[in-house]
Amino acid sequence: MKIAAVTGASSGMGREFVRQISCFYKNLDEIWVVARRKDRLEALRDECRIPLRIFAGDLTKKQVYREYHSALKEYAPDVRILVNAAGFGKSGTFREIASEGKRIQTDMVDLNCRALTRMTQITLPYMGKCGRIINLASAAAFCPQPSFAVYAATKSYVLSFSQALGAELRPSGISVTAVCPGPVDTEFFTVSGALTNPLKKLTMAKAPQVVRRALEDSRKRKALSVYGTGMKAARLGAKLVPHSLILKAEELLIQ
Ligand SMILES: NC(=O)c1ccc[n+]([C@@H]2O[C@H](COP(=O)([O-])OP(=O)(O)OC[C@H]3O[C@@H](n4cnc5c(N)ncnc54)[C@H](OP(=O)(O)O)[C@@H]3O)[C@@H](O)[C@H]2O)c1
Repeated sequence: MKIAAVTGASSGMGREFVRQISCFYKNLDEIWVVARRKDRLEALRDECRIPLRIFAGDLTKKQVYREYHSALKEYAPDVRILVNAAGFGKSGTFREIASEGKRIQTDMVDLNCRALTRMTQITLPYMGKCGRIINLASAAAFCPQPSFAVYAATKSYVLSFSQALGAELRPSGISVTAVCPGPVDTEFFTVSGALTNPLKKLTMAKAPQVVRRALEDSRKRKALSVYGTGMKAARLGAKLVPHSLILKAEELLIQ
């Protein structure tokens, strides 16, 4: 059985990956989808040509991994593509977010870093030499971001981990693509808080385009997928300009 597995499939880019994977990978038997909102995953079934197997649960808790892992053991599928899209961000200073809730920032680390690592670890033994891993990092990974400190740091982890894992796996034929979009119009901002940075508002992209680019880049086995000229320029800027200067500019923008 050939499958794709997608976390964060109940909305935004994860859901869009599920929709587009059915067109990109025509010979899949099933797509395995993970998220907490089961009703959303069930609704997605009606839109997909390929049958969906639903794993409804919280990736910061153990149960959903047990179910996913035992299904892998039972069916021993050939996982052609793993998309780690589950993630969330919260904007505000470290102190402000801490005063909103003790666990918000550590949950961000758990979901954005730990869950992605765990899903990769569990799935990798079921991937053959055509396998592809797509990890949702962010343009926030390119340099530190005051008022988005923990989120940007989690995405730096995703980018660094993906690049190193990709290098390790290259001889085995499995590719890893880190997707680094700027702001994308999804439910992300309902959770993170509305955008205040005017530059970010100007560069808002649409999920279908970002996902299409990511799937094309993954097909070409690219290590990095950056959608749009603005974000490509941001990446170059973060490489060329000292981070201390970028931090000063960011401080001025959020004042
Ligand atoms: N939108 C942006 O501007 C942007 C830019 C760069 C990178 N990203 C990254 O892209 C990825 C997808 O984000 P998006 O924009 O598509 O946001 P989204 O629409 O809010 O989707 C987030 C997904 O993660 C799932 N999720 C959240 N908490 C979870 C948990 N504890 N356990 C299991 N699943 C959980 C959500 O499903 P449930 O709520 O049903 O569990 C949802 O399916 C994220 O990693 C995000 O950091 C987003």
